Amino acid sequence: MKFVVANDHGGIDLQPTVCEKLEELGHEVIHLGTYNKESCDYSDFAVKACEKVVNKEADFAILICGTGLGMSMSANKVKGIRAACVSETFSARMSRAHNNANVLCLGARVIGTEVCKMIVEEFATTEFEGGRHQRRVDKICKIEEDN
Ligand code: RB5
Repeated sequence: MKFVVANDHGGIDLQPTVCEKLEELGHEVIHLGTYNKESCDYSDFAVKACEKVVNKEADFAILICGTGLGMSMSANKVKGIRAACVSETFSARMSRAHNNANVLCLGARVIGTEVCKMIVEEFATTEFEGGRHQRRVDKICKIEEDN
């Protein structure tokens, strides 16, 4: 699978852990920045990464900011994106299995590196279950059409 990873200055410390874990799992990783701790705006990076997913240049995105919140709020404004802001493994698995999330958002000021690795692994190895969950995901997509 191909993953794009993006972060703001608040997420920069966790970015290497995410990229290394994805590579260890055998995935292709493209890091879109930011590359230093200079203050920047998370929404710019969220949009850049989400566009790659929507345009099918990547299968998934992982976005990291201080809390994961700004990244997830921004990502969920992009049509076709279902972003989950996650800080434990159960939600990471369910975001794929039930919600068919295509973007994972993490908070570098919320979780440590070991929990981060476990979350990334759950997200990257769990398949969408479809069935009744497809109907519910279709209704999420319809909200975009209707609003
Ligand atoms: C940056 O200080 C911080 O606000 C940002 O990384 C993120 O936590 C916002 O949601």
